[in-house]
Amino acid sequence: MINFKELAKEYKTPLYVYDLDYMTSQYNELKGAFKGKKSLLAYAVKANSNLSIVKHFADLGAGADCVSIGEVRRAFLAGIPSYKIIFSGVGKSDDEIREAIEKDILYINVESEAELRRVELIAKELGTTCRISIRVNPNIDPKTHPYISTGLHDNKFGVDLNSAKRMYIFANNSENLEPVGIHFHIGSQLTELTPIREAAEIVADLIRSLSTIKIELKFFDIGGGLGVKYDNETTILPYDYAQAIFSTLTALDITIVCEPGRFLTANAGYFLTKVLYEKQNGNKKFVVVDGAMNDLLRPALYKAYHKIEAITDSTSQMRKVDIVGPVCESGDFFAKDYMLPELAHNDLLVIHSAGAYGFGMGSNYNTRGRSAEIAIKDGQDKLIRRRETFEDLVALELEFLQN
Ligand code: LLP
Repeated sequence: MINFKELAKEYKTPLYVYDLDYMTSQYNELKGAFKGKKSLLAYAVKANSNLSIVKHFADLGAGADCVSIGEVRRAFLAGIPSYKIIFSGVGKSDDEIREAIEKDILYINVESEAELRRVELIAKELGTTCRISIRVNPNIDPKTHPYISTGLHDNKFGVDLNSAKRMYIFANNSENLEPVGIHFHIGSQLTELTPIREAAEIVADLIRSLSTIKIELKFFDIGGGLGVKYDNETTILPYDYAQAIFSTLTALDITIVCEPGRFLTANAGYFLTKVLYEKQNGNKKFVVVDGAMNDLLRPALYKAYHKIEAITDSTSQMRKVDIVGPVCESGDFFAKDYMLPELAHNDLLVIHSAGAYGFGMGSNYNTRGRSAEIAIKDGQDKLIRRRETFEDLVALELEFLQN
């Protein structure tokens, strides 16, 4: 049991708390599910990019799935070897492509024909060959929130099957490109297995058809997306997930690459915030807290549900309240019509499932410094990012201030 009250006292609030042992058990469960086949879990760094978190996964043997050269650099800093790093994303700049090639990462995941030609040109300039995979958009509805759905032709991600085939032939004929993998990722917070299996079947068929023209791929990259329980969702079991993937790969000798983010970190994280005041506008009751949408954006952006636990001595009846932060936006809330007892100044709220897409989607809006982050391992807590100060926030502008 994590002693949130003690942690809030020691590190102040707002505060992110991560349970590294939970992350380890999630990692081991997923890795174990792929037992019997060659696999690489490439942690999706965007889910929680704190260096200590990435290092934790590096120590467990994970690779990294990155979507900017910044994330690639983080992966290197955290000790992930180059041969386990993948660089994806729909819009990579020339400088990013160049650096990824120079760093000799496992492969660049290409998302368009135009990008493939850019990668070829840059590899040629550098006098080298670049390993690539192609992200296929299988046009499958993943049945998740539209903002985190990526596998339909309406979405900007990947290329259709015909283009993919053309691109593999082009790459195979190029001296500066080496096609080694194929990739799909149909969305995030997936709770249904059927769309994943369907997508995997489509992509596995393409691998087989490429094989008939002597293009042999080594990596079958199934993206991330495994959903977690925020509330009462029924989620996919890692074992069933792996079996569904295996079922599409008959007679194929290929390494499975999986890019989990949320599955590894979401339920390992908590966001701690303190009650400032309660207030009432007409019939509406508000609990105003010291954390805000700049710390945890998911409720404001997706109306995402996060369980909220109150640590209080209050014995009052439960009532419906909106839990809101100090930012000047009506969208600045953590929950609406949530049942909580009457709360006092400095009572603590623990917002659950905050370990993925929490801190990383934060900002300095309203000139609010980002929270501190701490990690707990074997019962020991440790600061892994200090709280931002006002001086941190103005540092990049101060040198340009005219007298
Ligand atoms: N691989 C690729 C190519 C991705 O685009 C993503 C996530 C992942 C892996 C990891 O997906 P995961 O296993 O975490 O579902 N901000 C949103 C989620 C955006 C996900 C973007 N891509 C949220 O807070 O729900």
